[in-house]
Amino acid sequence: MQLAVVGGVPLRGKMKPQGAKNAALKLAVAALLTEEPCLISGVPKIQDIKYMIEILTLLGAQVEFRDGNLWIEAKGELKPQVPVHLARTMRASIQVLGPLLAREGYVRAAEPGGCNIGPRPVDYHIKGLCALGAKSTEAHGYIEMTAAKLQGADIHLDYPSVGATENIMMAATLADGITRIYNAAKEPEIVEEQNFLNSMGAKITGAGTDTIQIEGVRKLHGTCWQLCPDRIEVGTFMMAAGITGGEIEIYGANEHHVAAVLGKLLETGCQIVRGNGMIKVRGPKRPKPAFVYALPYPGFPTDLQQQLTALLSIADGTSLVVETVFNNRFRHVDELRRMGADIRVEGRGALVRGVEKLTGAQVEAPDLRGGMALLLASLAAQGESVISGTEHLERGYENLVEKFSSLGAEIRLL
Ligand code: UD1
Repeated sequence: MQLAVVGGVPLRGKMKPQGAKNAALKLAVAALLTEEPCLISGVPKIQDIKYMIEILTLLGAQVEFRDGNLWIEAKGELKPQVPVHLARTMRASIQVLGPLLAREGYVRAAEPGGCNIGPRPVDYHIKGLCALGAKSTEAHGYIEMTAAKLQGADIHLDYPSVGATENIMMAATLADGITRIYNAAKEPEIVEEQNFLNSMGAKITGAGTDTIQIEGVRKLHGTCWQLCPDRIEVGTFMMAAGITGGEIEIYGANEHHVAAVLGKLLETGCQIVRGNGMIKVRGPKRPKPAFVYALPYPGFPTDLQQQLTALLSIADGTSLVVETVFNNRFRHVDELRRMGADIRVEGRGALVRGVEKLTGAQVEAPDLRGGMALLLASLAAQGESVISGTEHLERGYENLVEKFSSLGAEIRLL
């Protein structure tokens, strides 16, 4: 499918964020750690969740998903195998390693896929799980791991990897003894995972700092959980106000989760009002340029780097965007150039010379967040744009057309 967007309309109105995609995927996997049912509410209806439901079902869990309520019951023996066609759908498929090892002592999963934003190895996941006593082999595109009984250990991550931190945390909940993860990722999704696991009876402290301690317990139980808001969707809509010179009020966001983004938007000349659970962003006539480093949390999030690059492409001056997390997260830049942007990429940096106007063009979404960068650019551009590759956007954004239309955007599916 394609999206047609007629740009130039300042977006105005109110929106409520969906539940956090990246947290929902991991909590759903964590539900495999117990035989009792878990209910997660506020789960977005997006393609990645549908893929995850397919994976969990194939593993032997019973899953129901209705009105944002995701019910998972992983009773009895599971079938700890993830085939290539499902592993390729998304990176988060690798998160089954920890829970299945802890529960079944065995797992065989195909190497994960996901957005093409540079090489995405899983060595930190495997090293961490091996430190807990697992044995691992890799052959024919599959990772196979076994463990008679996981043992708590001190683990020093080479890099604060979000996925590795979560995988180790999950596995360690059922290990013997205490695990400490040093140089752990500090993203809000890690805190959400800790709190979710603790509500299942786990004993975890320290999430949100660089040292997490997990005291293994014998068993976890079921839980009911309300998912936190999606900080990447929130940041995206804040930038939609910024790039179109509009005014959007966001209700129900967690402003601490988007503090770095708010700071950067202020630098670009956006006006921000906060209070009573609302964040209002009013975009400037024309954004000011900025320097930005995409970093692990609490730095500016890499998942909003591409959208910010779009916004800076119409800034009154030259900006520098440096991507430190992924190797190849500038694939949207060639498409932005088709719309008149003046951007030069060198290694992990992009020099963005702001142009006065972007012009509508036919462009292709290269990946999930890159697709959103093109959509934001289209909303600001003169004339009509047609964006293909919308399946990338469907992976992460719920009711995207309706949400943007309700703010006055001229957008439709073709
Ligand atoms: C998660 C998010 C993704 C976000 C990223 C960083 C999900 C489903 N995805 O991805 O949206 O952009 O965090 O905030 O939650 N690395 C290795 N070896 C490993 C693991 C990671 O070299 O074993 C590298 C990666 O290639 C990347 C960097 O570490 O360059 C960060 O990756 P990581 O934090 O693990 O991101 P994900 O968990 O994959």
